[in-house]
Amino acid sequence: MNFIEPGVIEKQKVKIKNLLPEIGIERARQEIITGLMSEKRTISSKYFYDENGSELFEEITELPEYYPTRTEKNILQKIAPELMNRNSSFEIIELGSGDCSKISILIDAIQKSNLEHINYIPLDISKSAIEKSANTLLDKFPEIKINGYVADFIHQLQQIPHSGKPRLICFLGSTIGNFSKTESTKILHNLSKGLMAGDSLLVGFDLVKPEQVMQAAYNDSRGVTKKFNKNILNVINTIIDSDFDIANFNHHSFFNREKSRIEMHLVANKNCVINSPFFSAPVRFEKGDSIHTENSHKYYLSGINELIANSGLVIKNSFTDSNNWFALVEFTNDL
Ligand code: AVJ
Repeated sequence: MNFIEPGVIEKQKVKIKNLLPEIGIERARQEIITGLMSEKRTISSKYFYDENGSELFEEITELPEYYPTRTEKNILQKIAPELMNRNSSFEIIELGSGDCSKISILIDAIQKSNLEHINYIPLDISKSAIEKSANTLLDKFPEIKINGYVADFIHQLQQIPHSGKPRLICFLGSTIGNFSKTESTKILHNLSKGLMAGDSLLVGFDLVKPEQVMQAAYNDSRGVTKKFNKNILNVINTIIDSDFDIANFNHHSFFNREKSRIEMHLVANKNCVINSPFFSAPVRFEKGDSIHTENSHKYYLSGINELIANSGLVIKNSFTDSNNWFALVEFTNDL
């Protein structure tokens, strides 16, 4: 996550532009401080993803307990041939592209002679993830053109130039689950506005399933999720120059049934005082006080219609695995 350098990487068929400096580190600091000072302390889950956090998340996706990635990839394998060969020339936009392993499955299904007509546009908050994955993709598919953006896709999607080719917008991994119902409704409305005839939006939703399966995915036996959760304090320390000691906070995650979401928190295991030159006064934690770091909503297929109500989006296709653990829903705009 780099809010300072506009750094553009440009080589052969890869271009990566950092849009984060347009947001600016001051706004990031302000958001973090407001979250820490509010009555229910929160840190936005986008701050998980510095270089270390992106690597830890990749490690999570390979854990035996973390079913979402594996399940979604199986569905992607099945739907890829049809989805990826409707047009011979199109662009793929991916919001929160991460390590690009999911898009790789889709691109793999494209007829070889069409690859040179494909533009892949990954957006991610993590500079390191986007640089690393663009290189991996280029090695695998030297024909495609990659135009990546280090960006906050919630606020900066409108800035991505439109080539005029048909678009497939991918919002995978149940990343939508990190947002509240109000926010995700708004995101879907905004995405809908950008869809033209012939464009599609593919969204991954993690579905409600037996509680112990969901719990285990966010509390793995090897403790990778715990490390991932605590790392957010290191990220915050570099952005606001604070002195959080990760040893003073415990990982806590649970399923909130009423809100149908896994919540992750960091709970102080002793009284502590946090300083930052950007605080108006030190922030005090008593043993047991928590910082809410993530929501990961789990959906019912029937609830998805509520999210798209009045957005102009219609469900074109919906695909699930045999257990109904995960859904990939393809939307179009009912122009
Ligand atoms: C990348 C947001 C989909 O919510 O499951 C993994 C992040 N958090 N383990 C998720 C995450 C804890 C993940 N998303």
